[in-house]
Amino acid sequence: MDKKTLELFGTEVKNGLLPPQKSLSSKWFYDEIGDKLFIDIMNMPEYYLTNCEFEILSKQTPEVISAFGISKEPFDLYELGAGDGTKTMELLKSLQGYDFTYRPIDISIHAIDSLTQRVTRDLPNIKVECAQGEYFEVLGSLNQSKPKIILFMGSNIGNMLDERANAFLKALSMTMNAGDKLLLGVDLKKASAIVLPAYNDKQGITAKFNLNLLHRINCELDGNFDLIAFEHAPLYDEERGWAMSFLKSKSTQQVHIKALDTLVDFDEGETIFMEVSRKYDDMSIANITQDTGLQIVEKFYDSKNYFCDIVFEKQ
Ligand code: AVI
Repeated sequence: MDKKTLELFGTEVKNGLLPPQKSLSSKWFYDEIGDKLFIDIMNMPEYYLTNCEFEILSKQTPEVISAFGISKEPFDLYELGAGDGTKTMELLKSLQGYDFTYRPIDISIHAIDSLTQRVTRDLPNIKVECAQGEYFEVLGSLNQSKPKIILFMGSNIGNMLDERANAFLKALSMTMNAGDKLLLGVDLKKASAIVLPAYNDKQGITAKFNLNLLHRINCELDGNFDLIAFEHAPLYDEERGWAMSFLKSKSTQQVHIKALDTLVDFDEGETIFMEVSRKYDDMSIANITQDTGLQIVEKFYDSKNYFCDIVFEKQ
């Protein structure tokens, strides 16, 4: 972590652990271990999101590409939060005849490196130019001359509550020109019996994924969290469509974070709110896209109707 990021990490950790409802931002999950654990999550049988979106992108590729409305003109294909690229490869394969540059953006250098290697190895005729950094820093520094298609898949938007998601999409839309497209992947509201196991797998990978953030605080901020003194406690509010992850303290305890000169007290059963994974319906989709200037071109569903990829056009 560079100095600036470390400072931000420290400030956010401190501010998150002081209020009565403690919280940590899930954006800090993705260090080297977190990246690997997330790939394991995407491969878990319970984590239906990946398979559903993969199915959409592999079975409806021509329809999705047609919704992009691509002409012969060269264009740039951006991907925000590129991950390991398995789903994107499906699109890239079918886009091989077009004149475009694939530009994945990710905060994680590990994700960017392995993705670039994969695309150059498996699809050598595709031009790839990666950028490591915060989405808006990269998008803000763009040469705006070519039409853009932006991919923001995996229901990554769902890790923001609606107000923030709306602000995010407004900011994203500001980086787009009229006619540019956005492919947004959203997980849909459904029964708890399907959603909850995706965030509470039998193997305990999601638990490790959450606990890894405490480990990261120990490593980067000289903390002394005892990882076995916390347990993973996910909830799903079916009506609101919020899957929420908490870490619950198993005992009354005190944690010292040396680099922050901070002592944090926990009661037995006290929780740290770790992550929201929002599940959507038409109303909440309309909510997060209101006043963004983004208009729906077409929606694509998987065969179970669990997941939706929506193509928007900037007005
Ligand atoms: C990255 N994001 C969309 C995942 C999700 O489903 O909210 C992160 C995740 N957290 C636990 N499992 C997966």
